[in-house]
Amino acid sequence: MTSAPMDSVTVRVPAKVNLQLAVGPLRDDGYHDLVNVFHAVSIYDYVTAVAADSFSVRVVGEEADLVPDGPDNLAIRAARALAARADRPLAARLTIRKSIPVAGGMAGGSADAAGALVACNDLWKLGLPREELLDIAAEIGSDVPFALFGGTAVGTGRGERLTAVPTGGRFHWVFALAEGGLSTPAVYGRCDRLREARGERPAPPKESPALMAALREGDADALGAELVNDLQEAAVALRPSLAATLDAGRERGALGAIVSGSGPTCAFLVAGESKADDLARALTGSAVCRAAVTAYGPVRGALAGAGGHPV
Ligand code: C5P
Repeated sequence: MTSAPMDSVTVRVPAKVNLQLAVGPLRDDGYHDLVNVFHAVSIYDYVTAVAADSFSVRVVGEEADLVPDGPDNLAIRAARALAARADRPLAARLTIRKSIPVAGGMAGGSADAAGALVACNDLWKLGLPREELLDIAAEIGSDVPFALFGGTAVGTGRGERLTAVPTGGRFHWVFALAEGGLSTPAVYGRCDRLREARGERPAPPKESPALMAALREGDADALGAELVNDLQEAAVALRPSLAATLDAGRERGALGAIVSGSGPTCAFLVAGESKADDLARALTGSAVCRAAVTAYGPVRGALAGAGGHPV
């Protein structure tokens, strides 16, 4: 986090991929109980907050035109929630520079909300502790606390209760970006209906010991084999072309291939940086995605002071 000029704060905030997304039964409140292993990766949005008399947001960068710039914007909602918690008549002008795919299953909106919380906490010199920011984050959305937390973590409840997971090294990824997004509620809804149609009654979600061991040991081969996403079937049902995207990565040697969160971004785990470059190049030249980008994880969350640059 840096300040330049003095009355502006810029925060860098990472995207996430889910290494295990175990979805339990639908709860009475419309959410699902999850075991959600989040992993922060080196695709970043930057959120800049500048002191102002009223709240506003401007979105620039990739797919900026797809992000709402009114009161629905998650970053504005987060900044307003922080001002309400401080019980002071505060406001800010926010600028979001996007690289995280919009509605892509990589928690881009949640990242922007987390970035706004950290930026405004600093801009307004509130000094709220991490625990309180995590608490406000959970009110904004299930994935927002993790964007503050960063690293690798297990989320339980609706995904907002986090415990850090130790990892034994850096993992290399390729993300195949899709044309257009998928609605998260629609993907959860399809998952419920697919289960109903099969007469399935989902068990309470459980952490995978083999996945945890692979993470602890930094074993990419083992991790690739253990990646699992209960939303994948529903995402592919809504966007059948994703089956070919996943196959294209597998055929080109990915250690693991998975839909990221509720999709439609597909994530491929690979053995190292040069393998990532090779796969990204091959996918970019194919018809199975809009673009492919490389990244690594785990990386620090928005709270961790991972340097930013002004928009
Ligand atoms: O918490 P958030 O607003 O980001 O969640 C978006 C939507 O995703 C929810 O409205 C719900 O449909 C679905 N969801 C869910 N169970 C969760 C988290 C999200 O069903 N644990």
